[in-house]
Amino acid sequence: MQLTVFTTIFHIFIFIQSCQAILSTNAKSNVALYWGQGAGQQRLSYFCAQSAVDVIPIGFVDVFPAQGNGFPGTNFGNQCWGTPYVYAGPGNDSALNQLQSECPDLVVDIPVCQSTYSKKIILSLGGSSQTYQLSGASNGVAFADFLWGAFGPRNATWVADGLPRPFDGPDGQAVEVDGFDFDIEIPSPDTQVGYIAMASRLRTLFETASKPYLLTGAPQCVVPDANMGALIKAVAFDIIWVQFYDTPQCSARSWITANPNHVDGTTEVTSGFSYHSWTTFLEGSASTAAKLYIGVLGAPDANNYYLTTSEISSLIDVYYCDARFAGVMIWEATAAENNAAGPYQSAVKNHLLHQVSNIKQLKGFNEINVFPN
Ligand SMILES: *[C@@H]1O[C@H](CO)[C@@H](O)[C@H](O)[C@H]1NC(C)=O
Ligand SMILES: *[C@@H]1O[C@H](CO)[C@@H](O)[C@H](O)[C@H]1NC(C)=O
Repeated sequence: MQLTVFTTIFHIFIFIQSCQAILSTNAKSNVALYWGQGAGQQRLSYFCAQSAVDVIPIGFVDVFPAQGNGFPGTNFGNQCWGTPYVYAGPGNDSALNQLQSECPDLVVDIPVCQSTYSKKIILSLGGSSQTYQLSGASNGVAFADFLWGAFGPRNATWVADGLPRPFDGPDGQAVEVDGFDFDIEIPSPDTQVGYIAMASRLRTLFETASKPYLLTGAPQCVVPDANMGALIKAVAFDIIWVQFYDTPQCSARSWITANPNHVDGTTEVTSGFSYHSWTTFLEGSASTAAKLYIGVLGAPDANNYYLTTSEISSLIDVYYCDARFAGVMIWEATAAENNAAGPYQSAVKNHLLHQVSNIKQLKGFNEINVFPN
C-alpha cells in the first residue's frame, strides 16, 4: 500500500516536471477539423457552433493557376455551385475555369464562424487530388498575391479591377479567411522552389494585415516529407498538423500496435510513430516555433489507421506534455460527426480538456488560447 502511494506520488512528480516549462504560453487542447470534402456534409456553421472545434481548414483549392486558365480552382463539396458558376480566368482556355463563384452558405457562414463562435477558418491548398502543380518562384509569388487579393483583406483596387472575391457577401461585405494551409501531396518539378516563394510571400503579406494570419501545413508522417519538407524547412509555419494516417511505418497506428493498453507514466515502447522526428526536424528549420498537432482520422477506415477514442486518449496522454504539442487535427468533419461511436471531435476535445484540468489541478496553470480573436 505504502509503496503504491509512493509510486503514484513519484509519477505525478515526474509528470509535473515534464510539463512545467511549457504550460504558461499556449493552449494544448486545440481541435482542428478539416471540412469541405464530406459526402452530404452539413454547412460550415454547423461545425463552427460546436465547442469541440477551434480551427477549421476548409478545402480545397485543388487547382493552381497553371492548370486553371490563370486562376486557381476550388472545390468545397456540396457547398458551392459547380460549372458554369466559375470566374473567367485571364487565359484563353475557358474550359479550364474552376474558381467557384457561387458559395451562398459559405459566404454567410465564414463571418458567423469568426465573429459569433471565435473559430479560425483556414483556406487549404492542395489535397489528395492529382489536379494541381506549381513550378518556379515567380509563379509562386504571383499565386500568393492572387490568394491574398481574392481571400485576404478586401482591397478596393483589386475589386475595382474586377478580380474575384469568392467569399465576399452579395452586397460587397468583406469576408477574409484567417490563414492558408499547405496540404501538398504531389511532388513539385522544382524541388519546392515555387512553394517556398509562395509561402514566403504570404508571410510578407500577413505583416500588412490588421489581424494575425496563420500559415499551417499538413505533411505526411515520413520525415522529411517528400513534397513539403524543403518548404517547412525554409519558411516559418505557425502550425504543422501531421497526417499520421497515410503511411504505415510512421502512423499513429504503429504506436498503438507497439503500445497496446498503454498506461500513462509507464515506459513507452519505441515504434515508428514519427512525432519526435518531427520535433527534431522543426528545431533545425525556419519553422522552429511551429506547434505540432497529431493528425488522425475521424472514423474507421479500410486500412485500420483510425484510432478508437480510448486509443487516441492514451496517445494524447503520452504526448500532451511535449513542448510543441498543441492539439489534434481530424480528417474530416463529416466522417467524425457521423462516427458510430458518437462525434469523434467531441470525444477528442473532452480528453484534451481532461488533461488540461488534470494539469491545472496539479500546477494551477492558466491556459491561454493559441487562437486570439
Ligand atoms: C491559347 O494560347 C496559347 C499560346 O498563345 C496557344 O498555344 C493555345 O493553343 C491557345 N489555346 C486556345 C484554347 O485557344
Ligand atoms: C491591392 O490590389 C492592387 C491590385 O491588384 C495591388 O497592386 C495592391 O498592392 C493591393 N494593395 C494591398 C494593400 O494589398
